[in-house]
Amino acid sequence: MDKKLKLAVIGKPIGHSKSPEIHKHFANQFDAKIEFRKDEVAPETLETWLADFFKDGGKGVSITLPLKEAALNYADEISDRARLASACNVIYAKDEKLFADCTDGFGLIKDLQENIKVSLKDKKILILGAGGAARGIIPSIIEKDPASLKIANRTKSKALFLKEDLEGKLDLKGKSLTFEAGGLSDDFLLADSYDLVINSTSVSTQAGESIGLPKALFSGTKLAYDLFYSAEKTVFMQEAFEKGAEKVSDGWGMLVEQGAESFRLWTNLIPDTSRLLEKPID
Ligand code: ATR
Repeated sequence: MDKKLKLAVIGKPIGHSKSPEIHKHFANQFDAKIEFRKDEVAPETLETWLADFFKDGGKGVSITLPLKEAALNYADEISDRARLASACNVIYAKDEKLFADCTDGFGLIKDLQENIKVSLKDKKILILGAGGAARGIIPSIIEKDPASLKIANRTKSKALFLKEDLEGKLDLKGKSLTFEAGGLSDDFLLADSYDLVINSTSVSTQAGESIGLPKALFSGTKLAYDLFYSAEKTVFMQEAFEKGAEKVSDGWGMLVEQGAESFRLWTNLIPDTSRLLEKPID
């Protein structure tokens, strides 16, 4: 790769994003020359920003909140995983076309299976939240044949809608999956126990906020995983641990692994993630 590859991450807010550091670390492994921009872009200016970036020779862009759904409108081709998620976290130029993809589910599964060494097959899984982040990971989770999957959301109707929508899009025939959706009531949450509890709500982005989960929720939980990452343990992680979860994790590994998959889409190179997984960038 002789030419400098033009890459970027966009969203609003964007200051916290570690994507430039992550991708520079990947590029260094191959002596690849990259230029990685971090731009604050709001939905109103997304179309113009993308048009200018790719006209200017841009190769790929990471898309973060709140642009993941809207960005799908500006791609020529949408991958199956982005279509199922109704969202994308990466857009890249190839053969004169713009491709949209969603590597979040891939990143989560890779982190769970290969880094944390948790298999999802036949496991009982609870997902808290029914927004874009939940949407992005559920198809990849179902693919791994868990015994049951429950979506619990503060606004119950949103969880029911998400379940119905996914049932219409995914091929669940031949799967012995118990798939349920509901609110955050104790009755619904405590009707089962869970091997894995995933927090996909945006509560961890609101400093000090708690979802207010019942104590018994985490009895028997092997892993409580927060999709959000931060230098400190999130409130969800602290609560889950105090309430009996054997292990807790934030979403740093998922972030690194989804980034590695995005890097592969942009460069055809598969980076080694091991060093970044050991030591988050401050
Ligand atoms: P994202 O794309 O990150 O999922 P989103 O679509 O705005 O963002 O969804 C945020 C999710 O976090 C929603 O499931 C939201 O619940 P509601 O649908 O009831 O709004 C959930 N959420 C945010 N703050 C929360 C809180 N304090 N307690 C519980 N759930 C919360």
